[in-house]
Amino acid sequence: MSSLLLRVLLIQLAAVECLSAAIPGCLTQCGGVEIPYPFGVGTNCSRKGFRIKCINGSAGEEIPVLLPTTRYQNIRVLNLSVSPLPEARVLLPVAWQCFNATGGVTGIYSGDVDFNPEGVYRISNTQNELFVLGCDTYAFTKGVRVHNVNARFPYRYFTGCITVSVDDKDPRDGACAGLGCCRVDIPPGITDTSMTFSSTWTRANQTFCPCDYAFIVEKGNYTFKASDLVSHTPDNRLPLDWWTMPLRLDWAIRDNNGDSMTSISCAQAPNEPDYGCRSKHSECTNSTNGPGYFCKCAHGYDGNPYVQSDGECTNINECQDPKSHNCSSGSKCIDTDGGYYCQCNFFRRGQQCDPLIPMAAVALNGGKLLNAQGITTYTKRELKKITNGYSKRLGGGHFGNVYEGTIVDGRKVAVKCPLRTRVSSHRCHWKNLIRPRRVPLPQQRVEEDGSFMNEIRFQFEVSRHKNLVQLLGCCLETDIPILVFEFVANGSLEDILHSAKKPCTLSLPERLDIAIGSAEAIAYMHSLDNQKRVHGDIKPSNILLDDDLNPKVSDFGSSKLLAIHSYYVRAVAADIGYMDPLYMKTEHFTLECDVYSFGVVLLELITRRRASWYEQDHQGNKILPIEFVKCFKDHGSGCAMYDSRLDFSAGEDAQSRCNKRCLDMIGMLAVRCLKEDKRERPTMAEVVEELKRVKVLLLGTHI
Ligand SMILES: *[C@@H]1O[C@H](CO)[C@@H](O)[C@H](O)[C@H]1NC(C)=O
Ligand SMILES: *[C@@H]1O[C@H](CO)[C@@H](O)[C@H](O)[C@H]1NC(C)=O
Ligand SMILES: *[C@@H]1O[C@H](CO)[C@@H](O)[C@H](O)[C@H]1NC(C)=O
Ligand SMILES: *[C@@H]1O[C@H](CO)[C@@H](O)[C@H](O)[C@H]1NC(C)=O
Ligand SMILES: *[C@@H]1O[C@H](CO)[C@@H](O)[C@H](O)[C@H]1NC(C)=O
Ligand SMILES: *[C@@H]1O[C@H](CO)[C@@H](O)[C@H](O)[C@H]1NC(C)=O
Ligand SMILES: *[C@@H]1O[C@H](CO)[C@@H](O)[C@H](O)[C@H]1NC(C)=O
Ligand SMILES: *[C@@H]1O[C@H](CO)[C@@H](O)[C@H](O)[C@H]1NC(C)=O
Ligand SMILES: *[C@@H]1O[C@H](CO)[C@@H](O)[C@H](O)[C@H]1NC(C)=O
Repeated sequence: MSSLLLRVLLIQLAAVECLSAAIPGCLTQCGGVEIPYPFGVGTNCSRKGFRIKCINGSAGEEIPVLLPTTRYQNIRVLNLSVSPLPEARVLLPVAWQCFNATGGVTGIYSGDVDFNPEGVYRISNTQNELFVLGCDTYAFTKGVRVHNVNARFPYRYFTGCITVSVDDKDPRDGACAGLGCCRVDIPPGITDTSMTFSSTWTRANQTFCPCDYAFIVEKGNYTFKASDLVSHTPDNRLPLDWWTMPLRLDWAIRDNNGDSMTSISCAQAPNEPDYGCRSKHSECTNSTNGPGYFCKCAHGYDGNPYVQSDGECTNINECQDPKSHNCSSGSKCIDTDGGYYCQCNFFRRGQQCDPLIPMAAVALNGGKLLNAQGITTYTKRELKKITNGYSKRLGGGHFGNVYEGTIVDGRKVAVKCPLRTRVSSHRCHWKNLIRPRRVPLPQQRVEEDGSFMNEIRFQFEVSRHKNLVQLLGCCLETDIPILVFEFVANGSLEDILHSAKKPCTLSLPERLDIAIGSAEAIAYMHSLDNQKRVHGDIKPSNILLDDDLNPKVSDFGSSKLLAIHSYYVRAVAADIGYMDPLYMKTEHFTLECDVYSFGVVLLELITRRRASWYEQDHQGNKILPIEFVKCFKDHGSGCAMYDSRLDFSAGEDAQSRCNKRCLDMIGMLAVRCLKEDKRERPTMAEVVEELKRVKVLLLGTHI
């Protein structure tokens, strides 16, 4: 009674301690071997045909054996596995036959096993092989008893091999090819086995080889040793402790004792009341060795597919094991029910979660997003080739140097390398131009990178305006992107107005058109919905002219790109000659600052003087706005300062008078643009309107 109580207690303890997918109240293990359902020890603990018995060994140790067995021998279980493949690893005694000196048989054990009264097991043909040891022996196994009395043979399978040896010299360790040992593969479908020994010659006087042996063993476990021919001394006792070999059995759920005609497959099994695949995430698989089916956990799940609750197929957390997921280092593995996905880190995209941002080799991937919108992305190497090693500098400014380049279709481009301060080297030399990348806080970096992308996309869109230099592409491999622009053929207004080599031949209507075009571009930028843009560096060198002298405002957006990179925030600074004094006070760049700068440009257009100049005889620096405003105040006109090449005072003819009137209108407009109180300054849209009025007047007389 107390022993039963102990047993119950032990069972309960085991059930609590081990979630090995056994039925509650049933043993979860025996002799260290786990017993997962459908296997089980005792009544009602296993599925039919899968019962295991837990017996005491000679030393009192627990031994799991298959049950029921119809023969006297117990078949010891070494391992029971449910997944990934249904296998039972068992120990079978070696079959033998021995002779005495006169050749008489002294004993025989055919190794008959019938571990399969319920038909669930098949000897695995893929995992096992048959060995025969002996010196004049023909042995074979037979399997699958045929019950039809009219059958040609009593068994479906016979397979075996021959081994001979005339003395003890031939058999060699490790060699199993017919001298003392032979081996052969076995066919599928074997339900049971029985060895038959036979010989051709007399066995008398064969003391070097007194017995024949035959066994099926798992592949790789047994290696022939010549001494095995003499070192075992079989007797007819219960052979549990006798020479044994491990072999693997395939098991499956096979109804009707595994009858191949009536056993059901996955085609019908799910509709049966005793369908074995009970777990929610289980799947039916047809047996590959014999009829019937077995169960598997669905992909992404692991556990016991034959049970419904504890131990059932549950989600595999692939993210916990780097080997079971392939998320790149740029991403985070997110486990899902039955799978996982890789969530790209901030500002990383695509299959490999590549960065979208300036970062050496992978920048191209980030550029794909830009490419989709028509923006070409270049590598540093490509740019070096395009610019022929940055050999031709077109110009430079606060924001960087601009180099000429030629892209594949033969078009010329201008490559603008960002730069914080002027450097003596005119090379786009990364070390000089772009500060070695600081190691920013990750969050800051992310913000910068995102802003760069947005800014480039924005600039690309905006620069389609006919009076803005079109952005064509960029290189994302530097900390501030290098931008590639259309090449504007005729240089800058600065060169044309102030070139010492070539006298300026621009007529007043041409100058007016240049003023109108540039003003329209700036007005357009200022008008952009919720993205009002300050140019920040309006001056003649940033107004480029194409073949037809159409103006194209450049360097639009540089300040923004630099500002994004917080390191360069202080670099947002226009040319001092064009800088609104208000800005110098407030350090706050507004639309009105651009208006001020444009006023200076207007003055340069009509006076052909630089924004500031040094005058020897007056011993000092002259500031154009100051000088002009003074002149205008004193004379009610800017006459004294207008470009003498503009024919405005020579005659009293209508055109000259008009030229003067037009110049005064422009001069007056410029003076308004330069007002100290920014509220008194016109908007750029008003500047455009006024310039167009001047043009109407001019056209009226010039036609
Ligand atoms: C049984 O086999 C499985 C997998 O093949 C292994 O993990 C387990 O440790 C084995 N158990 C025993 C008792 O050999
Ligand atoms: C096994 O189950 C049957 C049917 O549910 C039941 O009648 C029987 O008492 C059970 N046996 C044991 C030992 O629990
Ligand atoms: C097995 O051994 C244990 C103690 O070692 C004993 O209590 C139990 O009765 C034995 N069982 C059998 C079936 O012999
Ligand atoms: C050998 O075995 C045979 C048959 O079992 C027996 O008749 C014979 O006496 C035995 N000879 C010796 C030498 O034991
Ligand atoms: C066995 O050896 C004995 C003694 O050497 C000999 O007399 C006998 O003929 C041998 N038997 C056979 C079958 O060779
Ligand atoms: C053969 O199987 C037995 C039983 O599991 C094991 O003890 C032995 O180490 C195996 N031998 C080889 C060579 O794998
Ligand atoms: C299983 O085998 C049956 C009968 O051969 C077949 O109809 C069925 O499609 C198979 N099912 C699977 C899942 O392979
Ligand atoms: C990574 O996993 C995805 C989804 O499972 C698969 O499509 C892809 O081929 C895998 N890549 C590698 C390199 O294993
Ligand atoms: C502008 O370019 C055209 C063609 O390249 C050239 O003929 C013309 O002289 C240029 N004009 C100026 C003002 O440089």
